[in-house]
Amino acid sequence: MKKFFVVGNPIEHSLSPVIHNYWLEKNNINAKYEKKLLTKENIPEIISSLKSGKINGINVTVPFKGDFISFMDDLSDEAKQTNSVNTIYNLGEKLIGHNTDIAGFELAIRHCKYDINKKKILIIGAGGVVPSILVALKRMGVGKIFLQNRTVDKAKKLIEFFPETTLIEWGTKIEVDMIINATSVGLKENDNLNIDINGFEGNKFFYDVIYNPKETKFLKDAKSQGNITENGKMMFIYQAHQAFSVWHKILPKIDSELIKLIEND
Ligand code: ATR
Repeated sequence: MKKFFVVGNPIEHSLSPVIHNYWLEKNNINAKYEKKLLTKENIPEIISSLKSGKINGINVTVPFKGDFISFMDDLSDEAKQTNSVNTIYNLGEKLIGHNTDIAGFELAIRHCKYDINKKKILIIGAGGVVPSILVALKRMGVGKIFLQNRTVDKAKKLIEFFPETTLIEWGTKIEVDMIINATSVGLKENDNLNIDINGFEGNKFFYDVIYNPKETKFLKDAKSQGNITENGKMMFIYQAHQAFSVWHKILPKIDSELIKLIEND
């Protein structure tokens, strides 16, 4: 039986096993996908299990998406562009680091049929997921990207790699078509990003990478002002979809039963 893991710290909350095991069963694949709590010191051990074939592939999540890079024999273009690896697989004798968050975001935006071409976007946050969002937005032909982060230095460091992104001061209001919350604010009840959304009434697109809870305060407030809103559920499902297709050479079905599993968990 083939073995796959998602590794991270914390990992308890991860719904990746729910998705992958659902598809494994639906496609009659003799494999198991589990979660593993990791510390940095355990990385060489998991690398050697991947190399020996004891483990057939892993997904990497927070906070290790950068830490596996130096252990890879090769990186996909997506992993290189973002300096971030979330999917690892064996190709012959080589361990390949890949990034499916870019495609995850792109497919999620296409899924909700929002026409992003030439649009002005504001990203709030500068954490691990942001490089993937930036690459995806560029690929989709957006007009202009602004970014703000509570800690300015972190945003500045990020923008060194994405110089066409414009840094704006935390809390500054700006006229855009789409606002993306890429911070972790909203994961806990009562979390408040304290973004003033007055003046963003109607027809703007508010996107939150968070999918649990289903509706963060950021999305709730935006919706109450008549804006379009979307949470990160489909991005999460699509990044898994892409990883599954890399490992098993099958494009699994995203059906309503699967979506319900993610919503109800
Ligand atoms: P990492 O940086 O390890 O990838 P992340 O969870 O992906 O972590 O990113 C956290 C993001 O949420 C960061 O942009 C962080 O801002 P800072 O760089 O200033 O820490 C943002 N964030 C977390 N808590 C926040 C808060 N209370 N207010 C505003 N931004 C917050």
